[in-house]
Amino acid sequence: MSDRPALTIRLAAPRGFCAGVDRAIQIVEEALKKWGAPVYVRHEIVHNAHVVARLEAMGAVFVEELDECPTDRPVIFSAHGVPKSVPAEAAARQMIYVDATCPLVSKVHVEAERHSNEGREMVLIGHAGHPEVIGTMGQLPDGDITLIETVADAERFVPKDPDNLAFVTQTTLSVDDTADIVAALQARFPGIASPHKEDICYATTNRQDAVKVFAPGADLVLVIGARTSSNSVRLVEVALRAGAKRAELVASAENIDWAWFDGITTLGLTAGASAPEDLVQGVITACRARFDVTMETVETARESVTFKLPRVLVE
Ligand code: F3S
Repeated sequence: MSDRPALTIRLAAPRGFCAGVDRAIQIVEEALKKWGAPVYVRHEIVHNAHVVARLEAMGAVFVEELDECPTDRPVIFSAHGVPKSVPAEAAARQMIYVDATCPLVSKVHVEAERHSNEGREMVLIGHAGHPEVIGTMGQLPDGDITLIETVADAERFVPKDPDNLAFVTQTTLSVDDTADIVAALQARFPGIASPHKEDICYATTNRQDAVKVFAPGADLVLVIGARTSSNSVRLVEVALRAGAKRAELVASAENIDWAWFDGITTLGLTAGASAPEDLVQGVITACRARFDVTMETVETARESVTFKLPRVLVE
């Protein structure tokens, strides 16, 4: 018998990479194959330092703004989406550019524009400063979209025309928090037009659902992901809200404080949509070195979504 303490790891399924992240990473890899290095990427392609470091080693150069790129090299826009001004500027500078915006974010852009063209005043539910929010706000002229971050914002919002409103949302929000904000908006503006289908994407919803199954009463939930990753940060909040005694976001096994494990017998483990599976496996390996581990999978959905690459990369 092992003298190490017993630990059951309840592993979320689905977890980690979503179809939009997979596609964005593949776009950088294919661009490097097609055009050679360096290929420039505006903003972290996805919010994960390990992914970024691997692509950098292959010849990708990450910048924050277009004017940091030479005009004679291709540039890729990150999965989070960009304001309309960015491709317009790239075209004006006659640059080759490839848009790695997740198709589910592009869908929100199209919705916002359609509502606005039909004369509705737009509201975006999301978090200020996140690149996806900057990108979605930038689909319309400055000032045409009001950002609502909280129920209090929804209660204070003074529209120009209360009878002619529509909302869209960031794709990586907490499903439950967003439902509260939507309810507050609908209570005040019953006619507000809502998305045909949830803007919060399937991957965000599925990862939150799995956490809700193992979080109640869990002593510890670990979420693998970056602090800049919206959907990863939301998974920690969802775990705490669902009743986990402790939930921590860690970039990888190296960032674990093993004091968190004192006295626990069960660990809930998941990963945000931009966190590679090898980081999850690294945490399991680190646990096996210290505990007598039993694995359990908590499967709440099966995902089969895939997105095509842009035509310029498959021709
Ligand atoms: Fe797209 Fe959702 Fe992933 S919006 S990038 S599928 S987290």
